[in-house]
Amino acid sequence: MLRNKTALITGSNRGIGRAMVEIFAQKGAHIIAHARKETEDFIEFVKKTETSCNTTIDMVFFDLRDTLSMRNELKKFVLGKNNIDILVNNAGVGHGVSFLRTPVSQIKEVYDINLFSAMEITQIVLRKMCLQKSGSIINITSVSGIDLSAGNSAYGTAKAALAAWTKTLAAELGAFNIRVNAIAPGLIETSMGKSVKDFVEKRMIEECALKRKGSPYEIAEIAAFLASDNSSFINGMEIIANGGKI
Ligand SMILES: NC(=O)c1ccc[n+]([C@@H]2O[C@H](COP(=O)([O-])OP(=O)(O)OC[C@H]3O[C@@H](n4cnc5c(N)ncnc54)[C@H](OP(=O)(O)O)[C@@H]3O)[C@@H](O)[C@H]2O)c1
Repeated sequence: MLRNKTALITGSNRGIGRAMVEIFAQKGAHIIAHARKETEDFIEFVKKTETSCNTTIDMVFFDLRDTLSMRNELKKFVLGKNNIDILVNNAGVGHGVSFLRTPVSQIKEVYDINLFSAMEITQIVLRKMCLQKSGSIINITSVSGIDLSAGNSAYGTAKAALAAWTKTLAAELGAFNIRVNAIAPGLIETSMGKSVKDFVEKRMIEECALKRKGSPYEIAEIAAFLASDNSSFINGMEIIANGGKI
């Protein structure tokens, strides 16, 4: 499904990003796997996945808040001869605190990680995709950006902006044969999913038609579909993956 395609996936050392590396590799993609830090665990995971899926995975390391290092580290891939066919802006950070207890400086940091870093990376990768005249960009938003309940002034509004930007970018880039879509997960079994307060988790599972959390692999499969040519006429959409809400 993804053979002969190269995918850059951010935040791929754990959680949903790590599941995406596994699923994309199984489907034949060459991967540029981003992580904040070079750890033994990540390197071992990459090597194992390369061997078991018979593909190649390059690694790239930078903190999403460090724009200079992001530009330097991505330069070699953008200037290299290989295409970048798929970009998944997956990395993100949660924040569920009331507005009254959140300094604006913290809201800015949440926006930097969840929104502005995705914009920066996309601008860098677009240099290549616009020349190629093809590409699929997938932004990982959240149901928190749709339901916008209490405590979501930072994270929820940043994800809402990411979803809105997805639509405007899709409209701009269609002429270059570049599609831009988003996936809005509900509660997913990752460290971020586990970090929500007990009463929030209980409410989300009660309100979920399937009465459970999602698996990171369920989100990765949707991303693989959006990345592939099987979704070639889907553009500017935000797919909600929350098990259905009652
Ligand atoms: N889990 C859920 O319930 C859920 C629901 C809706 C949406 N989402 C979205 O899904 C995406 C993936 O979430 P997840 O559940 O997989 O979360 P996770 O397990 O907490 O993983 C987050 C990833 O983002 C990376 N990251 C965070 N801040 C970074 C920074 N400053 N620089 C570089 N990397 C950074 C983390 O790297 P480190 O390991 O170095 O921290 C990690 O790889 C996020 O955009 C999240 O908002 C998740």
